[in-house]
Amino acid sequence: MRDIEIINTIKEMQRYSDLARRDGKTVAFVPTMGFLHEGHLSLMKKGRELADILVVSIFVNPAQFGPNEDLASYPKNIERDLELLIQEGVDIAFIPDGKEIYPKGFQTYAELKNLPNHLCGLSRPVFFRGVATVVAKLFNIVKPHFAVFGQKDFQQLLIIKQMVKDLNLDIEIIGAPIVREKDGLAMSSRNSYLSPEQRIHALFLYKALKKAGEILKNGVRDSSKIIEEATALIKSCSDTSIDYIKICDPETLEDIKMIEKPALMAIAVKVGATRLIDNMILNP
Ligand code: PAF
Repeated sequence: MRDIEIINTIKEMQRYSDLARRDGKTVAFVPTMGFLHEGHLSLMKKGRELADILVVSIFVNPAQFGPNEDLASYPKNIERDLELLIQEGVDIAFIPDGKEIYPKGFQTYAELKNLPNHLCGLSRPVFFRGVATVVAKLFNIVKPHFAVFGQKDFQQLLIIKQMVKDLNLDIEIIGAPIVREKDGLAMSSRNSYLSPEQRIHALFLYKALKKAGEILKNGVRDSSKIIEEATALIKSCSDTSIDYIKICDPETLEDIKMIEKPALMAIAVKVGATRLIDNMILNP
């Protein structure tokens, strides 16, 4: 088993990566907000395959939470996270302090023009600006060759890829498949907020996606019909409120009326007070 090193300062992290690169080593990076689950571990496994050195950051990024969101209550368990990082053979846990990432006087943000104007960006107006900003900063601190992101946050993955392209960052972005519980619920740190009854209702996101796939297989290509069925299914649970159910182009996120090529079906639903997302590519 490898020894893990914990780095807390930006300078130290940059120096570590500079030396690793100077020695001809490749660096893979998995940014996280901690409270790790199997989904995160799958990203680390991918990162481990890709490079000599694997860096995982744990930082709950205040810039991506709106004023009425769950920043203060975001789940944490740093001891358990570190055990999991050791288990996965992670070389460096980068755990910076908020004040160093956003010092007094901080004023530069990374903002994209089009991709955030869809799906989660509509109900979480500061979210993608916060994500793009912290990821750009982490890229400059960790200096990776590769960075791995989960496809559960499909829009986030697309936005990071676009930012890397637009800003000519020399980093390869890799998307890793959604990891699900045995019954299909997509893994998320926020699943820990759910009561046993809400956990059953949360499963309806996946059920709706699966049903959409079946309807499409039966020859229905009209997105509005598929969305109607998915909406009815989710509304059959008392404790849910739908943020969006969309069928869209997996590159631009523009709505698709008729499914003639692979389309992204994306869902965001509040189960009780917990906002959950899930998605699936629908193949006609
Ligand atoms: O997906 C997440 O956990 C976060 O949005 C990320 C990429 C670590 C940025 O804070």
